Amino acid sequence: MADLRVLKRRCRNKRLTSLAAKVIVLDKLDYCSSAKNLTQVRQCPRVKFVKGDVRSFDLVLHVLNTEHVDTVMHFAAQSHVDNSFNNSFEFTKTNIEGTHILLEACRLARCTIRRFLHVSTDEVYGESSHASFRGDSNTERATLLAPTNPYAASKAGAEMLVMAYGRSYNLPFIITRGNNVYGPNQYPEKAIPKFSILAKREKKIPIHGDGLATRSYMHVQDAVEAFDVILHKGEDAHVYNIGAREERTVLSIARDICRLLERDPDETITHVCDRNFNDRRYFIDCSKLLALGWLQNKTWDAGLAETVEWYATQDLESYWGDIAQALEPHPVFAPSRVISFLDEIDDICQPADSRLVQNAAY
Ligand SMILES: NC(=O)c1ccc[n+]([C@@H]2O[C@H](COP(=O)([O-])OP(=O)(O)OC[C@H]3O[C@@H](n4cnc5c(N)ncnc54)[C@H](O)[C@@H]3O)[C@@H](O)[C@H]2O)c1
Repeated sequence: MADLRVLKRRCRNKRLTSLAAKVIVLDKLDYCSSAKNLTQVRQCPRVKFVKGDVRSFDLVLHVLNTEHVDTVMHFAAQSHVDNSFNNSFEFTKTNIEGTHILLEACRLARCTIRRFLHVSTDEVYGESSHASFRGDSNTERATLLAPTNPYAASKAGAEMLVMAYGRSYNLPFIITRGNNVYGPNQYPEKAIPKFSILAKREKKIPIHGDGLATRSYMHVQDAVEAFDVILHKGEDAHVYNIGAREERTVLSIARDICRLLERDPDETITHVCDRNFNDRRYFIDCSKLLALGWLQNKTWDAGLAETVEWYATQDLESYWGDIAQALEPHPVFAPSRVISFLDEIDDICQPADSRLVQNAAY
């Protein structure tokens, strides 16, 4: 339920050690995660790690009841857009069904959930228009969700369930919609680690299409602060955008990485076919979060240099094993996984009668 990198960062800052709260991390340690990212967290006496799937209703309910959970931060997801084009069932399964199961477990748990912070994404808005520059769209209230890829659609679907549980069962929820996050410890499938590793290894950096799609990147430390502020100061039933200050083209990001690693961008960067659909930009207005007191502190130059350095100096295979597939321009998908999902779906959608408790509330 919680993001390992967020906890790691907080622990390093000695904040978790001084918190009275106990934190339970539930994570299935999927292909993109590494137990090494938990090393510092394990030293925090108030942190407990449970390896498990958010889609396991019994496990989630057990954890909520036995640990007397009162706050849920729901980060667990399939999060890589590229994978979602070829493996979209997996995204429905984890992001929509996983969220539904978590919500239902919260509804039926004996403990009282006082805050359910659901982590969504800027991608649910779909592609921004240039009107967004004036700040008159992609505010939390004014904009309809218009996802354009299976990942974004699954995140939008999950949001709908969270909102419905808020209305139907008075779940005290908050939703966040954030820009891209980068920093050390991130699985190499995402653009910044992928580009850094390839450039360091003197391989080509593949850019989707013309590379002129813009993205806003926020350092993980700033994202952690945003979640902290929203968790403690946000209002129930509100949505908060978490927005980075500046927009950059994917091409300029690759060039910045080449410069840091002293690689010739013209020799290193190559263009490959684009995604099935590639949103040109995501602009979000985050004035609502700024009003709560959050500020983006890490500059792009400092954050990127620190991140590129981390990927250049770590034994990455000791974190994630073989990362060759993550470095491919477009991930290759094994079709057998679709079939196994279809077999599985019937079992998961048939809850035992004992779970159908009527009128349970938070
Ligand atoms: N990374 C970004 O740029 C970004 C931007 C906006 C929003 N988000 C959202 O933030 C959240 C975290 O993103 P991230 O980049 O850390 O993702 P990630 O892919 O790096 O990590 C996802 C985590 O969820 C776990 N997980 C996956 N399926 C699970 C399941 N069924 N049960 C339990 N655990 C499971 C994985 O093991 C992993 O630790 C996601 O909800 C994502 O949609 C991410």
